[in-house]
Amino acid sequence: MNNTAISLREKKAKGGKITMLTAYDYSTAKLMDSCGIDAVLVGDSLGNVMLGYDSTLPVTMDEMIHHAKAVVRGCENALVVADMPFMSYQVSVQEALTNAGRLMKETGAGAVKLEGGAEFCPQVEAMTAASIPVMGHLGLTPQSIRALGGFKVQGKEKDKAVKLISDALALEKAGAFSIVLECVPAELAALITGILTIPTIGIGAGKDCDGQVLVYQDMLTVSQGAKLKFVKRYCDVGSMMKNAFRSYIEETESGLFPAEEHTFKMDETVISELTRQYKARD
Ligand code: KIV
Repeated sequence: MNNTAISLREKKAKGGKITMLTAYDYSTAKLMDSCGIDAVLVGDSLGNVMLGYDSTLPVTMDEMIHHAKAVVRGCENALVVADMPFMSYQVSVQEALTNAGRLMKETGAGAVKLEGGAEFCPQVEAMTAASIPVMGHLGLTPQSIRALGGFKVQGKEKDKAVKLISDALALEKAGAFSIVLECVPAELAALITGILTIPTIGIGAGKDCDGQVLVYQDMLTVSQGAKLKFVKRYCDVGSMMKNAFRSYIEETESGLFPAEEHTFKMDETVISELTRQYKARD
C-alpha cells in the first residue's frame, strides 16, 4: 500500500485532488488499483449494492471483513478504508476499539471509517491512540437514515450548518485523518474544506472538496435505480452486461455457443476406439 492516511493529507497540502471509489471484491479493486486510484472504500453500501438489503443497517462485521479482505488482496497501491457497520462502534468506546481492531487485523485494511460527529469523538480518539487511522463521515449518514427521515441534503439551514462545521472540527481534533462529506451544499463543503487541515472527500458535496468518492455501481450504471443528482454515469456497464447475458442465453439455446474455438479436442484414434468399444456393448 503506497497510499496511506498520511499521503492523503500530504496530497491536500500540495493542492492535489484525492480520488476514491468503493469496491467490494478482488477483481474490481484490482482494476481500480491498476488505474492509479488513491483510495478504495469498502463501504457498508455493500449492503445495498452487493447483498440486496434496503439499507446499510443489516450489514455485519463478518460481512465487512469478508469483503474487505478480498479488496485488500486486489490493492497494491491504493489505501483501503473499511467501513465500520451500524452498531459496531455506537455502543461503547471499548466495543468500537475491538471492532476497529478486528477490521484492521483480519483484513489488512489501512484505515476504518465511521459515521457521525462530536458524539463519536471518544471512539475516534481511542482508535487514533491505538494507531488505527480513522476517516469520519458527516452530512447524509446512511446508518442514521431512519432518524434523518430519508435521503435529504444536509446542512442547508444555519443551525444545521453550524453543527456540521463544529462536528468536522471536533473530528479533526479527535484525530480523524480525513472526512467524507455526503450530500452537503457545495458552498458549505467548500467552507469546511477551507477550515480543516485534514482532507474532505465529497459525495454530492461539490467540486471544492479535497477529493471525491462514488459508489462504483452508480458511476458505471450497474445500479438499475433512478439516477442520483450527484452521480455522473461514466458508462453503461449494466446495459452491456444485460446484452451479453441475453446473447449467451440465445446462443446457448440455439447451439451457436460453444463454437469450434471454445472446444477441446482429443486424438481421433483414441475416440474411435472408445466409440467402437462402448457402442458394441449396446
Ligand atoms: O458506504 C459507502 O459506500 C459510503 C460512501 C457513500 C461514502 O460511505
